[in-house]
Amino acid sequence: MFRSLPDELSERGYRSIAVVTGKSSLIKTESWQTFINKLEEQHIIFEHVTASGENDPRSIDKAADNLKDKTIDAVVAVGGGTVLDAGKAISALLCMEGSISDYLEEVGTKKPTGDRKPLFCVPTTSGTGSEATKNAVISKIGPGGFKKSLRHEQYIPDAAFLDPELIVSCPPDVTAASGLDAITQLIEAYVSTGANKYTDSIALEGLKFAGKSFPWAVEEGKDVEARGSMAFAAYLSGIALANAGLGVVHGAASVLGSLHPIPHGVVCGTLIGKATGSIIEKIHTASGWDVSPLKRYARAGIALNGRDAGSIEDNCLNLVERLDKWIKKYGIKRLGAYGFTKSELKDAAGRVSLKNTPCDLTAKEIELILLARY
Ligand SMILES: [Fe+2]
Repeated sequence: MFRSLPDELSERGYRSIAVVTGKSSLIKTESWQTFINKLEEQHIIFEHVTASGENDPRSIDKAADNLKDKTIDAVVAVGGGTVLDAGKAISALLCMEGSISDYLEEVGTKKPTGDRKPLFCVPTTSGTGSEATKNAVISKIGPGGFKKSLRHEQYIPDAAFLDPELIVSCPPDVTAASGLDAITQLIEAYVSTGANKYTDSIALEGLKFAGKSFPWAVEEGKDVEARGSMAFAAYLSGIALANAGLGVVHGAASVLGSLHPIPHGVVCGTLIGKATGSIIEKIHTASGWDVSPLKRYARAGIALNGRDAGSIEDNCLNLVERLDKWIKKYGIKRLGAYGFTKSELKDAAGRVSLKNTPCDLTAKEIELILLARY
């Protein structure tokens, strides 16, 4: 629980920490006040860093610069995926020279050293699973922009504090988009060409928790049990993706997120139904139903729906139907609502990485997926 974090920090001997939060309502809550009071009781001083919007390199560099001449024993990040990623990037940059851009995949020329300040993550949304992953996403939006990762095995946080009390105030639209991000991560990791029996069991368990609790968390936001189950599902999605990899939806999220300021959960949520349907259709057309990737989609469908429809075909169809139903019911917006044009989407399709998608998709097929959610 969040309130026990100061005791944990004190037991580890930390006396001076950086706390990264959003510019959100968190700091007006009782939980935040209790946290501050307990830090004082434990004689722990803190520097407050705020992160909002996307994590652009300049804001990470500035935050780390401001902290470098101070003694920082550990970094605590409390917030949504962006805030946790900011905390992760700052904890690393406090131990490296130069700009965060120097160390980003496909952007910089230096390899991250893996050194970092101890990092404690407290998610206030249930989505990216950043509290369990080894990467932080850094973005520059607009022409020449990018959305790339700072990644190292050592960047998995020291501890994640999953506290449903902090998540109950997350609004329904954010709950829906971030929940669909977690579900996308669980599905993509489960069907990934990089999956193994350990990530399989983690991803399937996450899908079972998400299937039961996702609608409940969106519709009954104050219910701590639903929030706790979705927080756990998101955490499992982070472990699964960090070890099995992801698929084309996250490949598209990376390209589209660098063009317009669209929340990561919305991109994934808006595309996951159509993308899953298209992949299943392509594999089925080429090889029939009784093949390994479709058995995986079927098992994902059983886990998410909580029932076995009896055949690979029906379980695959139920999976897509369930995703489409949630996307519609919870009003996940289309790409056009964020300023994308059809020609931009056509152009972007050619730059989308398939990552570990279990079949090849042509640029034209990716274009059709994107345009279906224009
Ligand atoms: Fe994601």
